[in-house]
Amino acid sequence: MKAFIFDLDGVLVSTDKYHYQAWKKMADDEGIYFDEKINDRLRGVSRMASLGIVLERARRQYTEEEKVALANKKNDLYRDLLKNLTPADRLAGVTETLEKLRAEGFLLAVGSSSKNTPTILDKIGYGGYFDAVSDGNNITKSKPDPEVFVKAAEMLKLPAEECFVVEDAKAGIDAAKAGGFVSVGIGDAAHYDKTDYKILTMSDILTLPCVI
Ligand code: BG6
Ligand code: MG
Repeated sequence: MKAFIFDLDGVLVSTDKYHYQAWKKMADDEGIYFDEKINDRLRGVSRMASLGIVLERARRQYTEEEKVALANKKNDLYRDLLKNLTPADRLAGVTETLEKLRAEGFLLAVGSSSKNTPTILDKIGYGGYFDAVSDGNNITKSKPDPEVFVKAAEMLKLPAEECFVVEDAKAGIDAAKAGGFVSVGIGDAAHYDKTDYKILTMSDILTLPCVI
């Protein structure tokens, strides 16, 4: 194994809670029921596909124009929450684990569906840190399609089978498996039967076979 491709939201940084807060406010304003369980289905899924899931509970139909306005509203709320992001919002164990993997010679990449990836990486002090960044801005198909990870592996010039993908989303695990990567699941994805390696904390990565 030569590289790790990390999902961003909910794996490297606690922005998953801001996604939840922004969707919750948008849904509440529309009078649409929304809770953390529904939110778990949005993990790894693009903004418009996420909106489709939120609107499953709506009591009326929304036009395409209204849908775009709602997605923009959610993103504005989300970006407002991102303003306060600092390196302290990196999730527990992330800094130390990445440093150790790098010292062992692994290449490190990000594979995220989020179009806000560059902003977030800058704010948490990881602008320019990764060997490759593949995100919502360079893909046409969101997870569970493997495109975002395939592009990351291409940037690293490595075949999929030499890369671990670390994910908190079931859609992300499906994407990793579909692309031929070795999947590592944390959080929600640690409770998924398709996940190859289930971990409780970020530093558990260091105990995976072929790592140290
Ligand atoms: C993923 C999140 O990382 O990015 C999803 O898990 C989110 O919840 C998706 O919908 C798209 O993010 P953004 O920032 O482009 O709206
Ligand atoms: Mg995630």
